[in-house]
Amino acid sequence: MEEDMGAAPSSTTSRRHFLDLLLGASILGWLASIAYPVIRYLKPLPQTGPTGPTRLTRDETAKLEQNRFVIVPVSGQRVIVLQTPDQQLFAFSAKCTHEGCTVTYQPGQSVLWCPCHDGRFDMNGRVLSGPPPQPLAKYEARRQPDGGIVISEQRA
Ligand code: FES
Repeated sequence: MEEDMGAAPSSTTSRRHFLDLLLGASILGWLASIAYPVIRYLKPLPQTGPTGPTRLTRDETAKLEQNRFVIVPVSGQRVIVLQTPDQQLFAFSAKCTHEGCTVTYQPGQSVLWCPCHDGRFDMNGRVLSGPPPQPLAKYEARRQPDGGIVISEQRA
């Protein structure tokens, strides 16, 4: 009889221990599922793509010719490159200074337009109307002797 009473608590203890471990693992998993997205959101994204001056690819140049603008990555930033009918090139950060939406070019009106809150910028990147608080950052766009187009950050 003593053996029976001794065996039952051991089995109960081991089951309880297992359930405690399972509960602990579940709580850790739950905390990790909350913490991971928060940490991922707060940690800056690694810079992608090449850094420094960027030459437009053949496809990007063709798109520029066809649509009068193209958005390309330059040093990990979205840059909008514009070409006026008289072949002048302009380049600006494509990230709106209001809440970061991507701007687009409206060649008919010669303005850069942000569709999120109807922000408008002129061909120098200055704010024409809408909520953007600052002008768009300028980039340098140069046509090479071989016809290629190189975009680089503007030196202050
Ligand atoms: S994000 Fe561009 S106007 Fe608001």
